[in-house]
Amino acid sequence: MIVYASRTGNVRNVVSKLKAEAIELSEELRLNKPYLLITYTDGLGDIPAKVQRFLEKNRDFCKGVVASGNSNFGHHVFGAAGEKIATTYHVPLVRKLDLRGNQTDYEAIQTFYETRVMR
Ligand SMILES: Cc1cc2nc3c(=O)[nH]c(=O)nc-3n(C[C@H](O)[C@H](O)[C@H](O)COP(=O)(O)O)c2cc1C
Repeated sequence: MIVYASRTGNVRNVVSKLKAEAIELSEELRLNKPYLLITYTDGLGDIPAKVQRFLEKNRDFCKGVVASGNSNFGHHVFGAAGEKIATTYHVPLVRKLDLRGNQTDYEAIQTFYETRVMR
C-alpha cells in the first residue's frame, strides 16, 4: 500500500506512475498493514502538519518515505521532509524527487515497494 499527501498535484502524478494500491492520506486514516509514504515538503524544509499528525498515529507500519520538493528552495531544505521523517521514525529515505521526479525515480520507488514494502 502507498499512502500519499499531495497539495498541488505533483505527488499525485508520481503515484499515478506506480503499480501499487494507493490511498490519499487523511488524519483519520488508521493503517494496519505495511505502507510506503510519499509526501511533499512544506514551510522551509518541514513535514506537512497533516502528515506529521498522521505519522504520530501510524508509525508502526511505515516502511519508508519518498519526499517531493523543489530544488529551487536550496539544498538545505530541498525535500527535507524526507530526512526529517526518516530520522524521526527510523525508516529509509527511499528517494527525494524534484517536483514530479523522473522515470529513474519511479523505477527506484517501484523496486523498493516490491522488495521492501510488499514482500
Ligand atoms: C508554501 C510552500 C512551501 C514549500 N517549501 C518547500 C521546502 O522547504 N523545500 C522543498 O524542497 N520544497 C518546498 N515546496 C515545494 C513543494 O514541496 C513541491 O512543489 C512539491 O512537489 C509539491 O507536491 P504536491 O504538488 O504533491 O503538493 C514548498 C511549496 C509550497 C507551496
